[in-house]
Amino acid sequence: MVITLQQATPARLHHLHIVSDDPQQLAAFYRARLGLEDVESPDDRIVLTGPSRAVEISDSRSGRLPHSGFVLNSTQELDRLRQRLTMNDVQCLPTDSVLYWSGAFMIRDPQGRLVSFGLAADGPQRNGMPGRLQHTVFQTTELERVIAFYTEVIGFSISDEVVDDSGKPMVVFMRSDDEHHTLAFFQGSQNVWDHHCYETSEWNDIRDWGDLFAKAEVPIFFGPGRHGPGNNLFFMVTDSDGNRLEFSAELAHVSVDDAPGVWPHGERTLNSWGRAWIRT
Ligand SMILES: [Fe+2]
Repeated sequence: MVITLQQATPARLHHLHIVSDDPQQLAAFYRARLGLEDVESPDDRIVLTGPSRAVEISDSRSGRLPHSGFVLNSTQELDRLRQRLTMNDVQCLPTDSVLYWSGAFMIRDPQGRLVSFGLAADGPQRNGMPGRLQHTVFQTTELERVIAFYTEVIGFSISDEVVDDSGKPMVVFMRSDDEHHTLAFFQGSQNVWDHHCYETSEWNDIRDWGDLFAKAEVPIFFGPGRHGPGNNLFFMVTDSDGNRLEFSAELAHVSVDDAPGVWPHGERTLNSWGRAWIRT
């Protein structure tokens, strides 16, 4: 039986490393719209932090690759996770970031996506609108293979699956702590980043983020609505590179022993309020 992250070594999404053809313009978006501020970076990475959210931005010509950075609660738990991964023949590569204490490491999933695990470094205290970086989602051409890796090898737990008429999974939501999902994958025709999400405190925060984007003339492209899996309220906008950002409230919590839910692949699963955006 797989010991899950949720049981043994809870992990939460902490930062994203984004790669851009125009890092300065992208950084300007995150400073202005997400209220992020620069922290000193030892190299050409732009490192921006805000209240419970952070991004690193690299020039696509730097050769650095995008990755998702998770944090654990203690050195002991980080060591335990590294041991488990090593026993499962996963190579733990050293990684450095001013957002981590030393000892962080990076792994590759079967399709080459990078995921890092570490302990959060102390950074400057930031104030601003509530929006904790909470989950990230990818489209994949090999859903079954990546889900097997994330669940059986790393220890993510499946919270919900969206299945087609034949019962084949099309979307899988996975958790690494008590929150419904910190990571999800959609079956699709490409291997691309789908979106990332900021969890707010309540519906009124969604209103305030909506007003903020309205003032900047950044239009909503999906939502507002409520997702079936996770039961969270949401809307989505895009950044200056076209990356999709979601703002969410009321994301469900799931117990260790809860069995995965199964949902039909339809508009009302992805948005119970109405029209959905179905990936192809
Ligand atoms: Fe999402």
